[in-house]
Parts: sequence; structure tokens; C-alpha cells
Amino acid sequence: MTVAPHFQFQNDTLHAEQLALNRLADEFGTPLYVYSRQALRDAWESYRVAGEGRKLLVCYGMKANSNLAVLQEFARLGTGFDIVSGGELARVIAAGGDPGKVVFSGVGKQVWEIEAALQAGVKCFNIESEAELERVAQVAARLNRIAPISLRVNPDVDARTHPYISTGLKDNKFGVPIEDAPRIYARAQQLPSLNIVGVDCHIGSQITEVSPYLDALDKLIKLILTLKDQGVDLHHLDLGGGLGIRYTDETLITPTDLLSKVFVALDAHGLGHLEIVLEPGRSMVGNAGVLLTRVEYLKHGETKNFAIIDAAMNDLIRPTLYDAWHSVEAVQPRAVTADTPKYDLVGPICESGDWLARDRQLALEQGDLLAIMSAGAYAFTMASQYNTRPRAAEVLVDGDQVHVIRPRETLDSLFASERLLP
Ligand code: LLP
Repeated sequence: MTVAPHFQFQNDTLHAEQLALNRLADEFGTPLYVYSRQALRDAWESYRVAGEGRKLLVCYGMKANSNLAVLQEFARLGTGFDIVSGGELARVIAAGGDPGKVVFSGVGKQVWEIEAALQAGVKCFNIESEAELERVAQVAARLNRIAPISLRVNPDVDARTHPYISTGLKDNKFGVPIEDAPRIYARAQQLPSLNIVGVDCHIGSQITEVSPYLDALDKLIKLILTLKDQGVDLHHLDLGGGLGIRYTDETLITPTDLLSKVFVALDAHGLGHLEIVLEPGRSMVGNAGVLLTRVEYLKHGETKNFAIIDAAMNDLIRPTLYDAWHSVEAVQPRAVTADTPKYDLVGPICESGDWLARDRQLALEQGDLLAIMSAGAYAFTMASQYNTRPRAAEVLVDGDQVHVIRPRETLDSLFASERLLP
């Protein structure tokens, strides 16, 4: 068993759904991102079921994986999108998503992005500062529009996750301190080009316990009741994203684990009518993808053994950036014995930080094919072309069919828009 249900061994060969990964590597080359359509559907289904009978809008946190085909699949299933840039809004529209189901997060919204979002008719601006509130109001007034807004509050709870991906603590740049929220909502009430529709928080990512969410919810409920007294009636409560996935042996919380408790808490305070918005990214796509890579060389040293692979930190930066663990499976594994060496899996990039996994006991030979698991989220979207390496191709497997959803970049395309000096 691997960590990803739709990437399993059949006849000693790792498959994506019904297709053998070695065949995909032969056909499309490596490094190659391979996604499972069924995994996307199953992830959506786990949220849909959790919200049955309630008003729940899943706004997929598309920064996790913003390939148009992935967005299209989710849009067809009925999700909205959590965006953080004008570029992401353009992707939603290009993929056929409904801007009316888009929430716009992010601390640095520029004027053109606010204009584009107003023109597209997004569901809500998640306002992250007082200065942004004023800017959105001004832009909306100038365009003769009403901007729907919610305030992103920082509930100051510890999501107990990696510091780089923990966002709900006081010293993070995100949102406004929850104590200041009533005053800022009062200011919003005075601005005729704004329509207050909700409140929002996002406390972090790769969260594996319900309690940080419930701590945040407690504080949000108090705020919602205070706002009610102030004459502000909210339509929705956005609890952000953050549900973790299994990279190795994590114990997970499901959308149902979370939402069942959220609904109980809201009902107990007479707030069962609120629409719940969630912004899951990683849990929608993380285990829907693997990064396929081939061993170029083996290098056995005195203190370390290296497997030099054709994928690198430009393809998947999470290990070196966050010290993140990704499981590695040989696509056609050889037997591991007590004498099998441990390898660091490193890429061709000229940086010591260019590694994808460390100290993995694998029986390897040159030319072997490896799958870096759980590479559906924050993988391709964080890729670069460092060392003038074309970004990998992306394919999506649907049963026994495969669709190329992004061809490998060509060398020419890497510098086609650059100009020589006169
Ligand atoms: N909503 C907001 C406002 C966010 O900032 C994020 C993620 C999400 C939703 C989605 O969170 P998720 O459900 O994916 O945890 N690159 C890092 C993760 C950064 C997360 C940034 N914000 C990683 O590779 O682990």
C-alpha cells in the first residue's frame, strides 16, 4: 500500500488508476507529473458528503494546483475557488469556473486585481487590512459597483504545523487582529460601496487536529454575536483551508470530523443558518498526484550515497524549502535486503539544497523509475525554470485513459520572450 489510494501496485508495477507508470514515463518522458482524476473526485466527494443538508461552499484553494484541467474538473463538480491574485482569477475564468463562487484572499491586492474581481463579480473580497478596506471601497465607488466583503480575522490560535505554513498566529502578516474586527466592521458599515457579507479566517496548512479549528471557531462565534449587536448580519462564515493529507503515516481529520463539530457549535449559538465556506487546497489535490523521475546516475561515497535523478528542486521545492517528507516508491521495486544502501535523492541543479528525499533505503540501478508521492499540491505550482530547466509535463489519468494537460516546456519557450541588446 502506498500513501495514495489511486496510485497502487498491480503486478509489481506502480499504477495511476489503470495505467502503469513506466508506460507513461516511456510515452511522455520524465520528470512527469501524473494526476488521478478519480482522486480529485473522491476528495471533492468527502467535502460534499460532510456538508450534506447544510449550506456549504467549497472554494478550492487553487494555489495548491492551478492547472486548468484540474480547475475545470472541480468547477464541473460545483466548487468555487479561493484566489490570491488576478492571475488566478484569469485561470478560473479560462477553466469555465463561476466567478460568483470566488473568494479573493491575499494581503496585497493591487488596484487592477480589485477592478478585475469587481468586473468578474466575485462572491467576496477577504479583506486583510484596514488600508485594503479603504482601497476596495474606493475602487468599487469609482466603478460604480458594490464590493461584497468579509474581514479576514486573525484568531491567534496555534495550528501546530510548520512555522512557514502556520498563518493564524499574532505575528503572521495575515488578517487583522480579532479584537480590532468590530471597529473595522463599523468602518465598513459607513462605506456605501461595500456590502458586508461574511467573516473569514485561515489558520494554517497541513493541520491534523480538529481542536485548532474549534478554538478559532469559538472566537469567531463571539465576534459574530458582537457584530449582530452592532447591526451587522453576516451571511457566511469562511473557515479557510488547512486539512492535512497523508505524506507518510499522519493521522488525519476528515471534512466530516471537522464540519460535524462546526455545525454543532453553530447550532448551539443559533447560527445554524450561516453558509459555511471552506478553502481547502492540499486535501483536494495532494494525494492526487505523483512526480515521476528517472535515476540518471548512482554515486556511492564514503559517508553518503546519492541517486542523481532527473527531477530537481525546481520541479518540487517542498523538501528543501520546508524540510518536507515525500514518500518515494520505485515503480518496479527490487527486493530490499539488509545490505541495500540508503540514498539521498538529489537533482542536477547546482545547489546543495537540491534534494528531494534523504536516507531512503532503495535497491536502485541506473535508469530506474521512481515516483515521488503526494505531489499533487504545492508541487507544479511552485515549480520554476531555475538552471534553464523546462518545467515538467503534466498528465491526468482517467481510468485507462490519459490526457496531457500541460506538455513539457520546450527549450525555445524558456527564453522566447527575452530580448538581445541592440
Ligand atoms: N486559504 C488561504 C487564505 C490560504 O492562504 C491557503 C494556503 C489555503 C486557503 C489553502 O490551504 P490548504 O488547504 O492547502 O492547507 N506551500 C506550502 C503551503 C502553503 C499554504 C498557503 N496557504 C506547502 O507546500 O506546504
